Amino acid sequence: MGLEIQTASVVFPGSHGREPVEALHEIDLTIGEGDFVVALGASGCGKSTLLNLIAGFLGPTGGQILLDGAEVQGPGADRAVVFQKHALLPWLNVLDNVVFGLKLRGTPDAERKRVAGEFIDLLGLSGFEKSPVYMLSGGMQQRVGIARALTCDPKVLLMDEPLGALDALTREKAQELILRIWKETHKSVFFITHSVEEALFMGTHLIVMSPRPGRISHRFELPFSHRFLDGVSARDVKASHDFIEMREEVLKIIFADEEDAA
Ligand SMILES: Nc1ncnc2c1ncn2[C@@H]1O[C@H](COP(=O)(O)OP(=O)(O)OP(=O)(O)O)[C@@H](O)[C@H]1O
Ligand SMILES: [Mg+2]
Repeated sequence: MGLEIQTASVVFPGSHGREPVEALHEIDLTIGEGDFVVALGASGCGKSTLLNLIAGFLGPTGGQILLDGAEVQGPGADRAVVFQKHALLPWLNVLDNVVFGLKLRGTPDAERKRVAGEFIDLLGLSGFEKSPVYMLSGGMQQRVGIARALTCDPKVLLMDEPLGALDALTREKAQELILRIWKETHKSVFFITHSVEEALFMGTHLIVMSPRPGRISHRFELPFSHRFLDGVSARDVKASHDFIEMREEVLKIIFADEEDAA
């Protein structure tokens, strides 16, 4: 089962006399249970639009999106979103931010605390439950955002450049943490990034998109995250011969798209 995007198109009406924008053109994509699908592509190729379709924030102007066979018709607790700028509530502490979704759902207090505690632990935030989130580092804040998304036990986790604002070292650590959590929770993931290295390291599947109209130009299956989860160090995975070869191949595709656009 999982998520099926069937010939989905999105056309935004042109405002102020401009031409309409075909942000997505007849996209076909399956995200199976436990798949980690990463989207790469030049700015404006429709990555966020595709994520918004899956999240149900936006309806397709053509085609359809099915989750376990049922048509997606709006946002729902079966899909959780982690944004680049984690939409945290800065005046609340870590625990209150993490339980926020459960509170909205009316989960009883004791159950809320139990579930939140589990994910606070999993994300390495134990001891910071009472800290206001504005006092935490960017990396920790991002982990609070991920913990909050996971507490509602979504089937699909949607991440739009979740690590884009982090420094290089924190970012690599966060990549490893997300992979470990993905393995432990068996979620389906749709993950957007501008980093080719991050895409190759994280995904089981990679889609490369190109703009005007937004479409999937290339698809790859990836072995690298499994190697990491089987015990090879992240550095060794990223320095391996076939990883570097693939990185160059994907970079060439993306540079060609950027040149076409220029
Ligand atoms: N609400 C909207 N109204 C009109 N046009 C829009 C709207 N949202 C997006 N677009 C247009 O649709 C196209 C795809 O945008 P989208 O944000 O999905 O790209 P992206 O791949 O996420 O880019 P980036 O890498 O910069 O985040 C762009 O041309 C954008 O200007
Ligand atoms: Mg975007």
